[in-house]
Amino acid sequence: MAAIRNSNSKAFSDLKLSFCLLFFVIGLASAQLSPTFYSTSCPNATSIIRTAVAAAIATETRLAASLLRLHFHDCFVQGCDASVLLDDTATFIGEKTALPNDKSLRGFEVIDNIKSQLENSCPGVVSCADILAVAARDSVNIRGGPSWTVPLGRRDSTTANRDAANSDLPGPNLNLSGLIASFDKKGFNANELVTLSGAHTIGEARCRFFKNRIYNESNVNPLFALALKRNCPTSGGDDNLANLDVTTPTKFDNAYFLNLVFLKGLFHSDQQLFNGGSTHSLVLTYSITPALFRSDFANAMIKMGNLSPLTGSAGQIRINCRTVNN
Ligand code: HEM
Ligand SMILES: *[C@@H]1O[C@H](CO)[C@@H](O)[C@H](O)[C@H]1NC(C)=O
Ligand SMILES: *[C@@H]1O[C@H](CO)[C@@H](O)[C@H](O)[C@H]1NC(C)=O
Ligand SMILES: *[C@@H]1O[C@H](CO)[C@@H](O)[C@H](O)[C@H]1NC(C)=O
Repeated sequence: MAAIRNSNSKAFSDLKLSFCLLFFVIGLASAQLSPTFYSTSCPNATSIIRTAVAAAIATETRLAASLLRLHFHDCFVQGCDASVLLDDTATFIGEKTALPNDKSLRGFEVIDNIKSQLENSCPGVVSCADILAVAARDSVNIRGGPSWTVPLGRRDSTTANRDAANSDLPGPNLNLSGLIASFDKKGFNANELVTLSGAHTIGEARCRFFKNRIYNESNVNPLFALALKRNCPTSGGDDNLANLDVTTPTKFDNAYFLNLVFLKGLFHSDQQLFNGGSTHSLVLTYSITPALFRSDFANAMIKMGNLSPLTGSAGQIRINCRTVNN
């Protein structure tokens, strides 16, 4: 009898355990992002975003690069939660004044414009973090790069972290081990570091970040360096711009990697990927296999977009991407 009661109560506790597991699994499932997240709540969300991104890029080509970079700088700092978009207030310090972002990040007005259109169509539904993810995808694709399906359902943070922006975003003077460590901290391996660095196939950078490279380094193509010196003198001109990809500056292609092979990487950090170290062979492969770069880049962007999103009831859907809701 005691044995029967025991086995009954064991069966009952097994049942309880199964229920707990079931709810745990459901809980996990609801914490996943999904490409169809807005299909009933805001069916036009992705087309509204794409139309606005296309219009912005038609006005200024560089905005494609700026929007792509915004998503990167969002995701590497406390996850893809639109923390990068929060303005400073009297009581709040945002990430915009962190060293890698200050006077450097661009495209905030494009995001504001998209957000206000979405608030008109579907108030309080589409997160700023999702806008960043879709705008990055569309920017790449509009400039000739791959497309991919963006998982959606991220929510927006109520906090930002300037210290994390200073420590977790890689700088242009890092060596290969520093770059690998910076990406490893976010769960990316050295191959994915190379893949994502291919984003430097579009966009522009300030003289201050490549000055030392063009005047002092030896693993640089001499004619490439000479041409850059004209607009980046030894003293002054720190904010003068140069293209990250000297070959096809506004086209999202694999020319960045061929540039590296010819020692035409703009930053010290870019050229580190092709300087005899462990990433050398993948750079070479991408330089001659554009289709592989395209598909790897799409996959790496999806992975980057999955960095610690807020889901379920965490965070909020900001009404204005620059400020936390009252
Ligand atoms: C691997 C380490 C990386 C370093 C050290 C780095 C560093 C930089 C720096 C210093 C600039 C120029 C900022 C300025 O002149 O104000 C820049 C621009 C840019 N970065 Fe990176 N970056 C890295 C990876 C990435 C990744 C992973 C992406 C995107 C997936 C990205 C996308 C861009 C784009 C598109 C621009 C041009 C932005 C514009 O023209 O507005 N970068 N990066
Ligand atoms: C959504 O898009 C369709 C077709 O583009 C359009 O007819 C419809 O009015 C849009 N709806 C909203 C709410 O914007
Ligand atoms: C890379 O940079 C770090 C920090 O600046 C330094 O400690 C390390 O020795 C460097 N590694 C190589 C291989 O140069
Ligand atoms: C070149 O390197 C020297 C020695 O480190 C430094 O003093 C100088 O500022 C560098 N030149 C440029 C243009 O960065």
